[in-house]
Amino acid sequence: SIEERVEDLLGRMTLAEKAGQMLQLDARQDISEIVLEKLAGSILHTSPAKLVEAAELVARTRLRIPLLTAEDCIHGHSFWPGATIFPSQLAMAASWDAGLVERVARVTAIEVSATGIHWTFSPVLCITRDLRWGRVNETFGEDPYLISELGAAMIRGYQGDGLTDPTAILATAKHFAGYSETQGGRDASEADISRRKLRSWFLPPFERAVKEGCAVFMLGYQSMDGVPITANKWLLNDVLKDEWGFTGTLVTDWDNVGRMVWEQKVCADYAEASARAVKAGNDLVMTTPAFFEGAQEAVARGLLGDHDLDSAVRRILRLKFALGLFENPRTPDADRQRAVIGSPEHTELNLEIARRSLVLLRNDGVLPLDSAAGPRRIAVLGPNADDVSAQLGDWAGDSGQVDWMPDGHPRELTATVLDGLRAAVPADWEVVFEQGAEIERLVADPEGETFPDGQPRPPISQPIPADPERIASAVAVATAADVAIVVVGDTVNLTGEHKSTATLELQGGQIALLDAIAATGTPMIVVLLDSKPHVLPPSALNAAALIQAFNPGMRGGQALAELVLGHIEPSGRMPISAARHVGQQPIYYNQVRGQHGTRYADLTQDPLFAFGEGLSYTTIAYDGLTIGEPDVAADGVVRAAVRLTNTGTRPALETVQAYISDLVTSVTWAGRELKAYRQVTVPPGESVTVEIELPASDCTLVDTDGVRVVEPGDFELLVGPDSRPSSLLSAKFRIS
Ligand code: IFM
Repeated sequence: SIEERVEDLLGRMTLAEKAGQMLQLDARQDISEIVLEKLAGSILHTSPAKLVEAAELVARTRLRIPLLTAEDCIHGHSFWPGATIFPSQLAMAASWDAGLVERVARVTAIEVSATGIHWTFSPVLCITRDLRWGRVNETFGEDPYLISELGAAMIRGYQGDGLTDPTAILATAKHFAGYSETQGGRDASEADISRRKLRSWFLPPFERAVKEGCAVFMLGYQSMDGVPITANKWLLNDVLKDEWGFTGTLVTDWDNVGRMVWEQKVCADYAEASARAVKAGNDLVMTTPAFFEGAQEAVARGLLGDHDLDSAVRRILRLKFALGLFENPRTPDADRQRAVIGSPEHTELNLEIARRSLVLLRNDGVLPLDSAAGPRRIAVLGPNADDVSAQLGDWAGDSGQVDWMPDGHPRELTATVLDGLRAAVPADWEVVFEQGAEIERLVADPEGETFPDGQPRPPISQPIPADPERIASAVAVATAADVAIVVVGDTVNLTGEHKSTATLELQGGQIALLDAIAATGTPMIVVLLDSKPHVLPPSALNAAALIQAFNPGMRGGQALAELVLGHIEPSGRMPISAARHVGQQPIYYNQVRGQHGTRYADLTQDPLFAFGEGLSYTTIAYDGLTIGEPDVAADGVVRAAVRLTNTGTRPALETVQAYISDLVTSVTWAGRELKAYRQVTVPPGESVTVEIELPASDCTLVDTDGVRVVEPGDFELLVGPDSRPSSLLSAKFRIS
């Protein structure tokens, strides 16, 4: 059995081999040192050539334990030229479609596994709190229930029929846990978060991931209540492993162990840091090469016992045996690569999810463009209208994360908005492009080339001011057009790890461009191609139409053109709230009921666009919400029905959202929480009845002892098209 093989191998390993086995090192460094000197158990950020070299080196080690190879393939195979790059995780969340997300993850696993990578660092299960945080685009948004549903789907997709399936890859639930509770949106800052709050909103998606059989959990970077997450025994060991019964493997984030020495300064040296990390329950240590010596020294100094590494090594070996790597090291398979990478079926799925990810937020009737109205001239403007990198977003191979793929993905695989429109408009229409403005550029940090400890300071982003001549050219094009499509947003320099932003406004010359185009009087359609919701100027808010596209992936431009031309119906819904002003942070919808907390003296606390919001090319009326039996036992089920009527002339794919409000609670609790949703097609002029079933056991809160309980009493079921109280029908029920 696997357990016998693990124990046999473990029994033959020296302390140095165990310390090495716990290391995951950066394959961009000297691979022979990684395998032969540090005896590493795993590598990340590898290239095809390094994979081959690494396998040859492993064959020269004493025990020939195969390497686990890992990569950040979080919306497709980021680091493989020509692989399918899907919309960002945030964009995918706008589809609210777990089945579709599962298929995307399956395809990703098929492509990734063909390239000799065993493991992806995905999905991100952090809940977005502050929109300034640089990693909003990597999340499924702000709601624990939606995140749990989509995260579970992604895990199923990656891990396929089980780890023995040659197309399965290991999924990683990250970043465990509370990492997104930043201060001022700043990445990896200390998270001020109580255990009750963690259990209430941050942990549920992770607990669901354990139930889904997720193979790996990755830590965040932050500390909580003075304890770096890497040393948090309560969370890693007591909650994850003991309470939830997680049998998989934990991996730290990048140099978390070293950071306890050189950054957080809670350990005097690497022996101390290694000992703290092992005792807290870490298994794999990402990119801290000094852990190799540190762990051995910790044993020599008595900080760790002789067998303290065994539990971690056992978990790592178990994964390798479960994947069958000793029999089949799953090296790159050129035939499979040719057959699957970027295949037509995968491209078709990419188009499908891109279509479902687009959220129509405003429309005065200009959309869809009327192709019966005769030839038209369309002005396509803005810095993101023809920008591959903004289209693909972060973790897409061309944002500098790996050096062996300098050219990113072949240009022709991506349909930008400009490409999409040019290909889709009727032959007698004209598409005229003028960029009109730029966003930002990287410049040396004015605070100096190095940090006080000598580490190099990365360049910083500097806005590129509006250029009156370029704006004038765009205005000329817009004035001569029937409609202007202005594509604005952000860049990959303004999103990602340690790339949080202080502002949420559109940068560079974008606002000036929008204002100038609005002033032409030509109907303006604004497309937001960005990593997260931005604060918008009045010119954009008053535009004839507004579409939130996030980073829509390789087929995003094609999907956008189809939507604009009415070839598809808009169906995306916001997985996250958008703010009117940066000062509204945090603005997530499920805030805890407070006192005087509903507005600022100078601004509403209402979001600009609410969680769940999105339009169709028709209107759907909700009525007749009924609850079958309003008195429900604690182990019973709430059964409700609501009628939807399509009052327009086009079909709609509607996302019916069901929220719960617990009317009186022993502790302060969220005003409303999403508990279920259904997606249903409503043909024009027709009514459909949607049934919702909700176990009473879902109507829980976390009490002052940190226990999740149902508190019997009165509840409200709130059903409607989005999370705004004014959009929701309500019906009372009682749990006894
Ligand atoms: O997987 C990532 C993580 O999300 C952030 N730090 C680096 C890791 C490996 O690239």
